[in-house]
Amino acid sequence: MSGRYLVHTFGCQMNAHDSDRMEEVLRGHGWRAAETPAEADLIVLNTCSVREKAEQKLRSEVGKLAPLKRENPGLVLAVAGCVAQQEGEKLLERVRHLDLVIGPDNIADLPALVLDQMAGAPPRAHTVFDLDAPRFLAAAPARGSTSTPVSAFVTTMKGCDERCSFCIVPYTRGPERYRPATEIVDEIARWVEAGSREVTLLGQTVDSYRDPSLPPPASSDPDESQFPALLRAIAERVPGLGRLRYTSPHPRHATAALAEAHAELDVLARHVHMPAQSGSDRILKRMIRRYTRVEYVERVRRLAAARPGITLSTDIIVGFPGETDADFEATLDLVREVGFVSLFGFKYSPRPYTPALKLEDDVPEAVKSERLARLFEVAEAQTRAHLDRLVGTTQRVLVEGASKTAGRVSGRTEQNEIVHLDAGDLDLTGAVVEVAIVRAYKHSLFAEMTPAARDALAAAPRPSAPRAPRRRRALTLLS
Ligand code: 5AD
Repeated sequence: MSGRYLVHTFGCQMNAHDSDRMEEVLRGHGWRAAETPAEADLIVLNTCSVREKAEQKLRSEVGKLAPLKRENPGLVLAVAGCVAQQEGEKLLERVRHLDLVIGPDNIADLPALVLDQMAGAPPRAHTVFDLDAPRFLAAAPARGSTSTPVSAFVTTMKGCDERCSFCIVPYTRGPERYRPATEIVDEIARWVEAGSREVTLLGQTVDSYRDPSLPPPASSDPDESQFPALLRAIAERVPGLGRLRYTSPHPRHATAALAEAHAELDVLARHVHMPAQSGSDRILKRMIRRYTRVEYVERVRRLAAARPGITLSTDIIVGFPGETDADFEATLDLVREVGFVSLFGFKYSPRPYTPALKLEDDVPEAVKSERLARLFEVAEAQTRAHLDRLVGTTQRVLVEGASKTAGRVSGRTEQNEIVHLDAGDLDLTGAVVEVAIVRAYKHSLFAEMTPAARDALAAAPRPSAPRAPRRRRALTLLS
């Protein structure tokens, strides 16, 4: 017995990736995608709990599904992801119309658990980490399928062994477990074979990678990371791969060998997202980030120096317990000093189980808001200046699919800037197109194909409607 499913994703790329695996597992058991919640036999909310806001969103989405469940008692409602792992049974007690709670490591069991529910089993929470035999569900790209993304995500590791004091991830995703390098390389080769041009390696601290099929390293020294070797193996064994990215690294593991890999491997995109969190040593220490501001700057400078034109972006938390005006100024100063071209900023949000709970959340909400606004002001000025500087330059854009505006496509440069361009009736999806940057918008660029690119495409036209980028499906579940 099977039916129609709907998977709704909140949160990070790892969650989006998990949702894709859930859908594959379900399809493998005869399930098909539902178009609307009303026609679904199974609705999965794949959740995020990294900040409280994300968790509140889940609660309101689950609440909105109650009437649907009343109308259709046969509907199976499941909560997956980090909130599921964190709350387990408690979630079933709190949300009476919920049937299943399933952890990130238990995706493969989803079809069987749903069948049990359909057969009348009582609500069930299944949230066990696969510590002894870590399982990495392999993606199943279909060759030539229109759903093959130009840019695919490939998991390299899961969990996190850092203990950053603000972060819930070690508790919702468990300890670090690594995927064998041969499996990673094979999956990338399959994506490329199926038509993907770019791959982003995914891991909570992606640069702490170790190959589990090799003997364990002599020490837990960050310099023992085998991440640079993994990058080399990918470059060597999947020569058809156009671009390789990774997210998110931890500065502690951004070693000299990683910088060397950037210097040597053309396939590595010239952009690194390196979360800094704060520019104040006092706060970095309270966050248990295990680097100083000077060390952070040295590490990103070493990466940036490895290859001309590497751009840097980051994550910043404002209003961490004890953050003074001077600490916050130090963060702004770091943002200016490094010259990030973009950043994600967050107000500190106390999370269950985390060590920072012992510190008083003493920065008033209004001050957090004010600091976040100032941070964005500084960051946006830097983004604008960076994008303005690119006007008039020539860039190579990997086209990911149709833009919102008819007749336009969009893609990204090697440095990760989003570029829109007029495609006419050409299907440029998956093509690397040489463009001249004409205009800068707030967060993206507008470009025209260079005459050389037009001539090259005219010689080998591929007219058809461009398919939409599949990176983030904006699925509106209930509106
Ligand atoms: N409060 C605010 N931001 C957080 N992040 C992680 N935990 C918290 C928290 N408790 C941010 C960090 C991280 C990003 C994914 O989310 O900046 O890099």
